[in-house]
Amino acid sequence: MFDHPDYDGHEKVVMVEDAESGLKAIIAVHSTALGAAAGGCRLWTYETPGAALSDALRLSRGMSYKNAMANLPMGGGKAVILGPVPAEKRDAVMQAFGRAVDSLNGRYITAEDVGVSVADMEIVATTTKHVGGLAAGAGKSGGDPSPYTARGVRVGIESAVRAKLGRRDLAGLSIAVQGLGHVGMYLCEELFNQGVNLVVADINPARVAEAQARFGAVGVSIDDILTQPVDVIAPCALGATITEYAARYIRAGVVAGAANNQLATAEAGRILAERGILYAPDYVINAGGIIMVQGELSGDNDTAVVTAKVDAIGDRLDAIFKRAVRDNVITNGVADSMARDKLAAARNKTAVAGGVKALS
Ligand code: NAI
Repeated sequence: MFDHPDYDGHEKVVMVEDAESGLKAIIAVHSTALGAAAGGCRLWTYETPGAALSDALRLSRGMSYKNAMANLPMGGGKAVILGPVPAEKRDAVMQAFGRAVDSLNGRYITAEDVGVSVADMEIVATTTKHVGGLAAGAGKSGGDPSPYTARGVRVGIESAVRAKLGRRDLAGLSIAVQGLGHVGMYLCEELFNQGVNLVVADINPARVAEAQARFGAVGVSIDDILTQPVDVIAPCALGATITEYAARYIRAGVVAGAANNQLATAEAGRILAERGILYAPDYVINAGGIIMVQGELSGDNDTAVVTAKVDAIGDRLDAIFKRAVRDNVITNGVADSMARDKLAAARNKTAVAGGVKALS
């Protein structure tokens, strides 16, 4: 475990197996330096359990960075449930998962991620209180975080377009959206409302047909979406689609989307930068959903307040893009070092407070 390539000083990694429901899950708590480790639960059918472990380790570290960069009083964690889960077992699996979350006594707070719905989280909430993303009343934010994630990504694309193309708005630009799931479809709506011409791809033809009908989008094959002659590429499917190969052939000036861990390797990020393609660090641009969940958990969840916090993603990206130019470094490197500094400062503060307590 300690030699695992994706292990990064994680505070706690819990393997869960519940014989009765069939639940198999991994909960990774990367850091609680800034608060309880918060991050969604992904339900996915992995090729091997090892792939699930890698995903949990990488995604939980990403959540520490994401929450730190969004200035949220929360640490980073993530859970993965190993699929497939038979439909008749789903509720029992979610209840067992809730019990596993509860056994961590609030050290980890869960919510939706890929493959998990608001209805699933309502079931999880029957066995633990450490859960967000539940349905909320009028004027309050809650439920599906995806519209907030999509809004943050749209604001982030506007920031990248200002920095790279010197454009004040998105009207008339062309944007390729890879993946039309929860976030991708809401993002298309946001972009369509700004006068963007959309090019889209999804492995599910029904989603492409919906984007064509609602937004006049042009559908292309999933193999061609990243190399479209567009202004912006918005990866909104699963992670690691920006491989080194893809990075060499992307024709857009900007890569800015919702997917977690978009860059397959650090080298892919360097290739983008070398080719003058501006990359919006994924965990900064896609923080809208977790900002909403934090609002819900803290009770400070008036829609207007949460929306204003999501819109601040644009200012943060403006600062990262400026610093990258000033220091001649890559944008994801700037974000990583800012996030690491914030985590180190929080750890030092905790250590100093602990030391003072020990002395008194
Ligand atoms: P989702 O599962 O609803 O959507 C993913 C979509 O991508 C599906 O429609 C799927 O058919 C499609 N897809 C899969 N492989 C593809 C490929 N090779 N080419 C084209 N399309 C492909 O997931 P969701 O919630 O929309 O999330 C999308 C990404 O954004 C994920 O990486 C997720 O971790 C990330 N994210 C989501 C947040 C949220 O609020 N839902 C928050 C932050 C990040």
